[in-house]
Amino acid sequence: MRTLRSLILLLFLSPAVVAQERVDFEAEVLPILEKRCLSCHRAPYEDSTGRTKNPKAGLRLDSRGWMLHGSDTGAVLVPGQPDKSLMYQLTVLPDDDADIMPAKGKPLTKAQTDLLQRWISEGADFGAWTGRPGPEVTEQEETPAPTSSPLPAKLAVWKALGEGVRPAGESALTKARRNAQIRLVLPDGPLLRVEYLSFEADTDDDVVAELTGFADRIAVLRLARAQVSDAVAATIVRMKNLTHLDLRETEFGDAGLNKIRGLSELRSVNLFETNVSDRGLRALEKMESLQDVYLFGSNVTDEGVARLREHLPNAKVRYELELPEGILETTPNRRRR
Ligand code: HEC
Repeated sequence: MRTLRSLILLLFLSPAVVAQERVDFEAEVLPILEKRCLSCHRAPYEDSTGRTKNPKAGLRLDSRGWMLHGSDTGAVLVPGQPDKSLMYQLTVLPDDDADIMPAKGKPLTKAQTDLLQRWISEGADFGAWTGRPGPEVTEQEETPAPTSSPLPAKLAVWKALGEGVRPAGESALTKARRNAQIRLVLPDGPLLRVEYLSFEADTDDDVVAELTGFADRIAVLRLARAQVSDAVAATIVRMKNLTHLDLRETEFGDAGLNKIRGLSELRSVNLFETNVSDRGLRALEKMESLQDVYLFGSNVTDEGVARLREHLPNAKVRYELELPEGILETTPNRRRR
């Protein structure tokens, strides 16, 4: 009887035990780094022409010592604090973001970034692995003061914008989650990233309007290939803290763009294969926060693009076939009405 009871108990317990197992760096994390990071972040080496190749940003991920040492600008790994660790933060940026890591190829999968996050949360335990010889790192240095974390500009923007926002709208958020994938842009802030991956066909202006109840918390909105029209601008214009907007391959056009011209925090807008024309570009001319504008495949002309570049000298206005990283892989079955 007792055996039976313990057996039943064991059956109940074992999934919980499995779920709590700590991440094994060498078996789980290292293979990701080797496959996706080390080509650019390893010991200096000579290429076939005899030129020395140095690690990008001075950052080496091929050794425990170097990983804890960080890059030219500072720490990238703060054990216990994934939100302070650029090594994790840069992998969860929107995939059309210029700073996303890996810098080439597809973004890491959610399972991979979750693993990285969990490993750092658990204290970044390397086990017996040390990798290539690196600088000596004392226990003291392993946990640099959080304030010394060099968050890149965009993370700093999200942090600052998030400070003025109360994390409200929970009931609206629960409802919107039925159709959308909604995640925090920073683990310790209220701002959100919303996307509709694989629900694009059912995502119309009304579905997006479900975001209204917490519009000021949305920093990244991805509507690529959704069934939205200019009318969706009525919802988007409420998103005062929107920094990244992806409307590629939708029926969005000039009227919509005109309506959202007041979004003062917008950094990146993707209008690849939309109905936008030179007239719509006029609305963008005064949006000085813009850093990246994607226009390939829309109805704009060379003249319209040249004009926009004149008005926004600091923005990258991409019109030639200069696609954001990963766009070709992400649009295999493009449907244009
Ligand atoms: C194709 C080359 C390439 C690959 C692959 C790559 N990176 Fe990078 N990485 C770069 C470059 C270039 C920079 C410098 C970017 C800059 O200064 O704007 C950089 C910068 C970084 C930084 C910021 C360092 C700092 O303090 O400024 C981190 C952290 C980083 N990479 C982590 C990773 C991780 C983690 C992976 C794998 C998941 C990865 N990188 C894969 C090229 C790459």
